[in-house]
Amino acid sequence: MAIEDLNAQNISIGGKKVRFEIQAEDDAADPKQGTAAAQKLCDAKVAGVVGHLNSGTTIPASKVYNDCGIPHVTGAATNPNLTKPGYKTTYRIIANDNALGAALALYATDKLKLKNIAIIDDRTAYGQGVAEVFKKTAQSKGAKIVDEQFTNDKATDFMAILTAIKAKNPDAVFYGGMDPQAGPMLRQMEQLGMTKVKYFGGDGICTAEIAKLSAGAKTLENVVCAEGGASLARMPGGNAWKSKYDGKYPNQFQVYSPYTYDATFVLVDAMKRANSVDPKVYTPNWPRPTSRVSPPPSPSSRTAS
Ligand code: ALA
Repeated sequence: MAIEDLNAQNISIGGKKVRFEIQAEDDAADPKQGTAAAQKLCDAKVAGVVGHLNSGTTIPASKVYNDCGIPHVTGAATNPNLTKPGYKTTYRIIANDNALGAALALYATDKLKLKNIAIIDDRTAYGQGVAEVFKKTAQSKGAKIVDEQFTNDKATDFMAILTAIKAKNPDAVFYGGMDPQAGPMLRQMEQLGMTKVKYFGGDGICTAEIAKLSAGAKTLENVVCAEGGASLARMPGGNAWKSKYDGKYPNQFQVYSPYTYDATFVLVDAMKRANSVDPKVYTPNWPRPTSRVSPPPSPSSRTAS
């Protein structure tokens, strides 16, 4: 929809009318496929990239984009480590998990006065990262972490780890991971009678799909989650945008849809300001600090090492 809306604006850049086209690649939420997809986009010399979704794919892909000099803007990946290398080609338009994880922990401790918390993560860059921030903040506020369990981002049976957690009688479970796991987990918590246990998580579980994925479990009422961007209701024109999106793409809305829409406009806005679709021209602060074009120092100016 972003591409359609941009093309409807008849934008001219560098004196020429431009028409944007999508080249879509699927990274399947897999780090290796993430770098392969990024390399394909580099080889195709696309003008810019919107993505990726998962931190686990976005972090390794960001290096590929840095190496080939194409900027990418994610509207979904929230692990703080994504921007730590300081690549001039990596951009994120939502808050990171230092904000999300800490906010959830402060809400659990200060507001809900929860004392005993169990933590589960899916061992991905995202799940592990957001769980770690939540844990540290909750502990700093006096909460006790009564159990820590791990799963993976393909699992659907959590009975063993939930049974272990139930024995510790926690007030809340924090889950670092995505909704395809959180949904069945909530259903299994209901089956185990863990119906009074609050269920915390980051943006990965803050989705409409979680209701379906949990088969409408009663434990859905216990979910407390945080998103990295403003809710649609608070975005200017957000509700109208959602109606238009739902009309064009029924049942495809995801929590990241408005942010990735905006990410596309951010890329094109940079092109318009620089009056160029060339990533090396429109990316701010180009060239990179380790520019390949600078001449090597002359032998006389080299210091001995
Ligand atoms: N926020 C999730 C992640 O970073 C989607 O992987």
